[in-house]
Amino acid sequence: MHNTRTLTVEVWRQSSAEDDGRFVAYDVTGVTPATTVLELLDLLNEQLPDGEQPVKFDDGCREGSCGKCGVMVDGVAHGPEFNTTTCQQHVRAFRNGQRVRLEPLRAEAFPVLQDLAVDKKKSLRTVVKAARGPAGMKALTNAGCISCGACVAVCPNGSGQLFVGSLLTELPPLMKDDDERRERTEKVIETAGETFGPCSTLGDCTEVCPAGLPLENLSAVAREYLRNQNKTRHQH
Ligand code: SF4
Ligand code: FES
Repeated sequence: MHNTRTLTVEVWRQSSAEDDGRFVAYDVTGVTPATTVLELLDLLNEQLPDGEQPVKFDDGCREGSCGKCGVMVDGVAHGPEFNTTTCQQHVRAFRNGQRVRLEPLRAEAFPVLQDLAVDKKKSLRTVVKAARGPAGMKALTNAGCISCGACVAVCPNGSGQLFVGSLLTELPPLMKDDDERRERTEKVIETAGETFGPCSTLGDCTEVCPAGLPLENLSAVAREYLRNQNKTRHQH
């Protein structure tokens, strides 16, 4: 077929959470410039040698809105195109015969379940729950965050600060009074500290965030923290 290419895909294979895992290289044929990363995985699974288990990966809407997908492509969360979910990333930049490395979203908070599939829900949900579940979800929706976890995976510290900051940017108007705001924001900051690494304001997160959330959102964490400290001081 016109314009098709063959890529050597080095993919992370790990049979279970307990397995050590390793990269395995496969030649995948029939790739076109319009093939997305998830379609590349579909092709790979169709072409696997007999007897090999399909590569497991996180899949969902394939429209960039559910936040379920996510792999590292050559070490970058979601892939080489800025602010684009894995399901919307195309492999057009890869030439015939080129190697591409696909591995799970790497973060301490995201244990690998199998191959490229990780559990990112558990840690992200812990923080949302600290914001009183539904209000936390609403805050994320209002911020435009799709809970994809890419900001955590791309950060060398495994910090979830863009996620947490985006939540805290939108949470205050959803609280019924100042006491609830203080109680919930304190809990969110404490839980995030236990769940993710510290933020060094490196900003890699804003390059991968499919929602294009800005670095300014990080400041909501400091704002709520200082606000809570001031209140505590005034009470003593
Ligand atoms: S802040 Fe952006 S990168 Fe982080 S979880 Fe939300 S949408 Fe994904
Ligand atoms: S599969 Fe839904 S955002 Fe990628």
